[in-house]
Amino acid sequence: MRKFVKEIINGVTFIDGYLIVNKKYALPKNYGNGLTEELQEAFFNMQNAALKDNVSLKIISGFRSFSRQEEIYESYLKIDSKEKVDTYSARPGHSEHQSGLAIDINITNDSFIDTKEAKWLNDNAYKYGFILRYPRNKSDITGYKYEPWHYRYVGCDLAKKLYNNGDWETIEEYFEI
Ligand code: DAL
Ligand code: ZN
Repeated sequence: MRKFVKEIINGVTFIDGYLIVNKKYALPKNYGNGLTEELQEAFFNMQNAALKDNVSLKIISGFRSFSRQEEIYESYLKIDSKEKVDTYSARPGHSEHQSGLAIDINITNDSFIDTKEAKWLNDNAYKYGFILRYPRNKSDITGYKYEPWHYRYVGCDLAKKLYNNGDWETIEEYFEI
């Protein structure tokens, strides 16, 4: 059994120092004010490396406030049932985008699956500290469908561990939460 240190600081949960946000752990309403500097620097480095491989990456959704997520979630409820929406959109307070540590890259729909950009990200993002947060076949664990465009910044140490030669382990599995 691995031992992890869980702390709750001002309503934010950290395990071994890593901020946790998922269906179970929420962020306070007023939390967050943009993408973190570390993420921005890591993305810049990753973007440059990708360009050398003729792969163009851009952030199409970065930081989202609690109220912005609320608007998004509510707008989806007009088209789909709550049960369905919960498979692809986080409830307000539960989106990683509110943490400033998550980004959506290039295209946020299934047409991104199996593109060269998605493949490059899947194979290389860990080198820059990013993890594929909602992998294929892990919906029962993450609670969300496969999102090849959503990457979470965790830093290189943890990203290398979770990459697992492309067979991504989730934060939930790794920290046993
Ligand atoms: N699409 C992800 C789960 C979010 O809404 O944060
Ligand atoms: Zn996302």
